[in-house]
Amino acid sequence: MNYEEICQEVCRIAKTTGGFIKQEREKAQLNIETKGLNDFVTHVDKASEELIVEQLQALLPDAGFIVEEGTKTQKGDTYNWIVDPIDGTTNFIHGLAPFAISIALQEKGETVVGVVYEMGLNECFYSWKGGNAYLNKSRIKVSNAKTVSDSLIATGFPYSNYSRMEAFLKSLTYFMENSHGIRRLGSAATDLAYVACGRLDSFYEYDLKPWDVAAGAFLVQQAGGQVCDFTKENNYLFGKEIVASNNATFEEFSTIVNQIMTK
Ligand code: IPD
Ligand code: CA
Ligand code: CA
Repeated sequence: MNYEEICQEVCRIAKTTGGFIKQEREKAQLNIETKGLNDFVTHVDKASEELIVEQLQALLPDAGFIVEEGTKTQKGDTYNWIVDPIDGTTNFIHGLAPFAISIALQEKGETVVGVVYEMGLNECFYSWKGGNAYLNKSRIKVSNAKTVSDSLIATGFPYSNYSRMEAFLKSLTYFMENSHGIRRLGSAATDLAYVACGRLDSFYEYDLKPWDVAAGAFLVQQAGGQVCDFTKENNYLFGKEIVASNNATFEEFSTIVNQIMTK
């Protein structure tokens, strides 16, 4: 398989679908439904997922799908796409950037292509196995920050699963007092893409799904950073917790998250 060619096609699919999403945003009705506490979906999430799935299926007919809105549930033996049609739906509803399309391709459980297309700034982040990581054709790398105290850190604030609030608030206190600051952008895929290109130094969040992180985590690794779960193991895709950081601060940052979030 030519991963680079597949990746370029995925970028094209993400950009054309992004055009549709932005067009729909201008319409009066977004048909907002509630999936759970503060968990929203619009007709645009569903329609754009269908558009993406249809085009990815034409690209690789044997591949299966893990997709947020459940428009396709069939799994593939070798290849699977992991798709979030709009990561940052709450931002999208409020007309606030960032919100992004996140698409990853896995081969036997290993990510081989990752694309995050952030529609607010029209920025496409992408990489493929064996290649470098790019933002709109320019090569990207993680930052050079050497310590957590020199880092800008992103996270996601809990909005429906409050089971780890006490530890999470402790982590906020720690990072407020011991870093350049904390950001909550509202799109985990974008948070990870921003770590990959060095705008952010580190990111952590709990209760995330595979479609939130699959493409972005791959981008961080391809851009020279590292990713793990809160126990510093590898279960960040399906394990609902992720830590991502540039290479230089990864050990320090992941140890702090581990010590605060798992106690
Ligand atoms: C959400 C965003 C958000 C994160 C949430 C996710 P959605 O994805 O990534 O930043 O904090 O946990 O669910 O629902 O907008 O696709
Ligand atoms: Ca998401
Ligand atoms: Ca989504």
